[in-house]
Amino acid sequence: MRFSGKVALVTGAGSGIGKSIVQQCIADGARVIATDIVEGPLHALVAEIRDQGGDATAVVVNVAVAADAERMIDTAFSTYGRLDILCNNAGIMDLMTPAADVPLELWDRVLGVNLTGPFLACRAAIPRMIAQGGGSIVNTDSEAGLRGSAAGTAYTVSKHGLIGLTRSIAFHYGDQGIRCNAVCPGGVQTAIGIGGNTPNQAGLERVMTSLHGIKAAGYTATPDEIASVITFLASDAASNINGAILPVDHGWGAA
Ligand SMILES: NC(=O)c1ccc[n+]([C@@H]2O[C@H](COP(=O)([O-])OP(=O)(O)OC[C@H]3O[C@@H](n4cnc5c(N)ncnc54)[C@H](O)[C@@H]3O)[C@@H](O)[C@H]2O)c1
Repeated sequence: MRFSGKVALVTGAGSGIGKSIVQQCIADGARVIATDIVEGPLHALVAEIRDQGGDATAVVVNVAVAADAERMIDTAFSTYGRLDILCNNAGIMDLMTPAADVPLELWDRVLGVNLTGPFLACRAAIPRMIAQGGGSIVNTDSEAGLRGSAAGTAYTVSKHGLIGLTRSIAFHYGDQGIRCNAVCPGGVQTAIGIGGNTPNQAGLERVMTSLHGIKAAGYTATPDEIASVITFLASDAASNINGAILPVDHGWGAA
């Protein structure tokens, strides 16, 4: 099994893509730290894994809070003695709100979870990964990291920023055994929605209009179709891939 002896930490593990990453890591022999801000589904997932003989530990965190990010990385080392794979996957949407209408609270919340969160986790993990001989980081980005037409401003900026974080880490730490890559999914069948019940109507309509005629943009992948690429990038099969920004979008980006 490709993850035998390895320890993986996944954020946003209670739902959607994160849950699939956890399940694929467990199926391939990893021990997993599964983290989320919502307790119920996270504990249910970990209980199910343990019932089936797998080894997972739940840590409830808000990834945007530095002390929480440090605590989840600490838990990997205190529980399993190492951390080989870090999947920064937790994310939230932004109601499709264009810049002029973005309340500062929405901006701070979306940037906090989608960009500051991965930064904090990487900052805590990298020195300890280097000390143990290396590690692999995979960030769940988005088609919105590659274009302006897939979401509102805060989400788009957060995912563009996450690409910068991915490349910067790949550049600065690649020669110390750290690989850092990102996947950019198109639509995926998960609970993320648009980030609430009341989207910005003008922003939503503009995004939807831009997608007309791009057939591939209408495809919604299963979480497994995204997680399988993330676990590939995390694995030794991708040992020569560092700093890659990989669209997993059914061809949306090719249109
Ligand atoms: N679903 C899509 O269409 C799509 C497309 C492109 C990218 N993505 C990205 O995929 C990633 C996973 O999202 P998903 O689609 O599986 O959504 P999801 O809502 O099903 O799962 C996201 C998980 O993140 C958790 N989370 C949210 N805020 C958190 C916080 N502050 N701290 C810790 N955990 C937190 C949620 O509780 C949830 O369990 C996100 O980064 C998202 O931006 C999703």
